[in-house]
Amino acid sequence: MPTSLTSEEFSRKVSEQIRFLPSLPDTALKLRQILADPNCDFADLISPLEHDAGLCADLIRLANSSFYGRGGRVDTISEAVMTLGMVNLSDFVLVAYTNRIVRSHFACLQNLADYFTHSNKVAGAAYCIAKAAGASIKDQEVCRLGGLLHNIGRLVIAVASEQWTAALGNFPAQGLAGENRFDGCGLDECEVGMRVCRNWNFTEALALGIGRHHSPVKGGEVNYLALIIYLAEFLIIETLPLSIVIADFDPALLDRLQMQAAVLTKAREDYLEGMGKIESIQPAHRGG
Ligand SMILES: [Fe+2]
Ligand SMILES: [Fe+2]
Repeated sequence: MPTSLTSEEFSRKVSEQIRFLPSLPDTALKLRQILADPNCDFADLISPLEHDAGLCADLIRLANSSFYGRGGRVDTISEAVMTLGMVNLSDFVLVAYTNRIVRSHFACLQNLADYFTHSNKVAGAAYCIAKAAGASIKDQEVCRLGGLLHNIGRLVIAVASEQWTAALGNFPAQGLAGENRFDGCGLDECEVGMRVCRNWNFTEALALGIGRHHSPVKGGEVNYLALIIYLAEFLIIETLPLSIVIADFDPALLDRLQMQAAVLTKAREDYLEGMGKIESIQPAHRGG
């Protein structure tokens, strides 16, 4: 927080930043409307999607990611929609637009690439944990989206506090269970992230999961999405023993949610394999 500002003034600045974030474009809202109709036709989606070349590129790239198991063979938007599935497309569209807004609106931040690298890693790990824990396909995707968006509040705080070189990557940089508050300003990235999600009309489940991702268990009550994001933050640190990561949690709770050490070990293996494939695909894309 700039030393000349009081906590109240800083809090007001953060609220202003949230209010002035660009809204999602009409295409996003139109696609959401189409997808909200249970009888929506596959063909209805293609036309609005094709009007946005950047969005098409994002969706094709996502469909080609190793987590969808197609090995980089999706070339058209129709194939991408089929691969991702209509159920999840609405969320993917929102994330694609959100990332675009982040790239332009927060371009002043010097370490923005770290934000995307970290978000992608946490998203991959969250997806792998949810899958290994037996979550439904839909919940696996919600966890992936939560991972992609979990640090959005950190960007808003960095801009409001004029910390253009703020650390935008690893959460554990400030300790395993760190509260990760910026310069004692009294606001944490979780709360701000939750407000950003609500501002963009993301589902309340996603907003709450992001809002709790540093404190997934409160008074015995657990937020499932928040817990998976929390665990994913540590799963991506390959050298960190999982026994240390789960030591803070009641074993009975982890048993109930099928997130025991063996499950997390499997999730870490899947994550490392998936991220390895993404890295090995990238040079071919650059060359082409
Ligand atoms: Fe975080
Ligand atoms: Fe994080």
